[in-house]
Amino acid sequence: MTVTITDIQKKKTSGEKITMLTAYDYSMARLIDQARVDMVLVGDSLGMVALGYSSTVPVTMEEMLHHCRAVSRGVRHSFLVGDMPYLSYQVSEEEAVRNAGLFIKTAGCHGVKLEGGSESVPAIEKITRAGIPVMGHIGLTPQTATALGGYSVQGKDVESGRKLVEDAQAVSDAGVFAIVLECIPSPLAALITETVPIPTVGIGAGNHCDGQVLVTNDLLGLYDKFTPGFVKKYADLAPVIRKALSEYVREVEDGGFPDDEHSFRGSDAVMAEIISGMKNG
Ligand code: KIV
Repeated sequence: MTVTITDIQKKKTSGEKITMLTAYDYSMARLIDQARVDMVLVGDSLGMVALGYSSTVPVTMEEMLHHCRAVSRGVRHSFLVGDMPYLSYQVSEEEAVRNAGLFIKTAGCHGVKLEGGSESVPAIEKITRAGIPVMGHIGLTPQTATALGGYSVQGKDVESGRKLVEDAQAVSDAGVFAIVLECIPSPLAALITETVPIPTVGIGAGNHCDGQVLVTNDLLGLYDKFTPGFVKKYADLAPVIRKALSEYVREVEDGGFPDDEHSFRGSDAVMAEIISGMKNG
């Protein structure tokens, strides 16, 4: 049975932690789903992790939908959230609903996520009114990191801290089913978690949130360009993969691969007949 937003809400009520991870392709989606993670996010971190952009800003709707389709084929258990890319929900509420709808109608997602506090309320209201579950995202919002002064911890002074509490309340009132809290001090995340009736899912926001999300490639040690300080690496796969790939190259070059075990022999009699037939014209 697929996890529902009711199951997610129940976890907040019962105090059970909510788990969420990102996925960008079918194979990883299957593994994450098999680990019975509550929610899978096709994040626009796709842009940096899988597409090699220097930020999430260039990611397009087309790219998001393409990867959501691949991930949705691998997910059976988890609630699948598609991340709305930059400028897919800010221009007009009509466009926001149309784009959110594409994640649901054409890409197998169960809900969408969008960034922003009070400024995103009209889009959230319109999308939720169309019957699409929306997840909020406040704190460090990578799509507008430049305007925030870079990729830094948010809400560290009284004014910006209070603004984050107000933003959490505003998106909650607008109808989001959960909120991602990214890179904010742990006591502030605890306060927001106590204040809003919906689940909070933290990333770099301490242990008092109702759940946690990480970029899967970070926790597996696959993305070795940069690892944020809040990431715990549960595996260090980049060196393991590099070693395996170098071994493959060496074995192909020295003729060690493929050996008999990894080759098809066929029937000796049939092969002999083909070979002698060819030789005799
Ligand atoms: O794009 C993403 O992966 C995200 C998570 C980090 C929450 O928004």
